[in-house]
Amino acid sequence: MMKIITIGNQKGGVAKTTTTMNLGVALQELGKKVLLIDLDPQASLSVYLNHNLNDKYTIDRLIDEFINDEVKNVEKYIKTSENDKIDYIPSKARLSALEKEMDTRYSREFILKEILENEYFKKYEYILIDTCPSLNILLTNALTCSTDIIIPVQSQFFTMDSLNLMLETITKIKKYVNSNLNILGILPTMVDNTNMSKEVIEYLKENYANKLLDTHISRLVEASESTAFKISLVKMNKRLGKQYTELANEILRKSH
Ligand SMILES: Nc1ncnc2c1ncn2[C@@H]1O[C@H](COP(=O)(O)OP(=O)(O)OP(=O)(O)O)[C@@H](O)[C@H]1O
Ligand SMILES: [Mg+2]
Repeated sequence: MMKIITIGNQKGGVAKTTTTMNLGVALQELGKKVLLIDLDPQASLSVYLNHNLNDKYTIDRLIDEFINDEVKNVEKYIKTSENDKIDYIPSKARLSALEKEMDTRYSREFILKEILENEYFKKYEYILIDTCPSLNILLTNALTCSTDIIIPVQSQFFTMDSLNLMLETITKIKKYVNSNLNILGILPTMVDNTNMSKEVIEYLKENYANKLLDTHISRLVEASESTAFKISLVKMNKRLGKQYTELANEILRKSH
């Protein structure tokens, strides 16, 4: 059974992109066939993957072709990163212009789901989707086609409002378009020894105990080094890389 996992939180800077990349590489190192999809017009994941920004086969074009009924070959949209050897579909800024076009289309929530139904994607066991920090049609598309969602929460400047808003969105998605969507878990990121961080973890334990993942991701500067070097923390064998491997193992246990 293929798992499609959205890494989502409409709050910015909570480590969605870092988590998509490193959980993906960790799952691959554990022997799984993994595809990453960059569904954020900021294209941070594509940059992290050292994508050649001149490449024209990006997710916006794939969606565009799909809307115009002319997808002939999805294979040309699948890239393999040089450093981590992981498959991905890149994004670019133009994706944000496409939002309007998607918005007016019939069955607009199902565009990505229909694209991923293509035979070509059957070879993947895990598809991870990196999303943008807003509640827009792109996030809705990700949640509609996903079997699961992981919600990274930054354990630094926590607002419960943003987590609650995300959970409300998931409730609506489950009600109207994807009743099978499973919350794989809330992932605390950038955890450190400050009181703020401890309070956030305490709050999450008290209020979301059954949804809180066992794995917590520490706050370490190596995260930004990894982004700068365009190599995953897993491949660089960093402490955070080990934590993301732990997360991958937890996900595998929960997927069975
Ligand atoms: N565990 C960590 N420790 C320290 N810094 C981190 C950690 N994880 C991510 N960061 C840094 O925090 C910043 C935001 O991370 P990231 O880009 O993954 O978040 P995001 O949720 O994808 O952001 P956006 O909402 O803009 O897409 C980056 O500079 C990243 O290097
Ligand atoms: Mg991001």
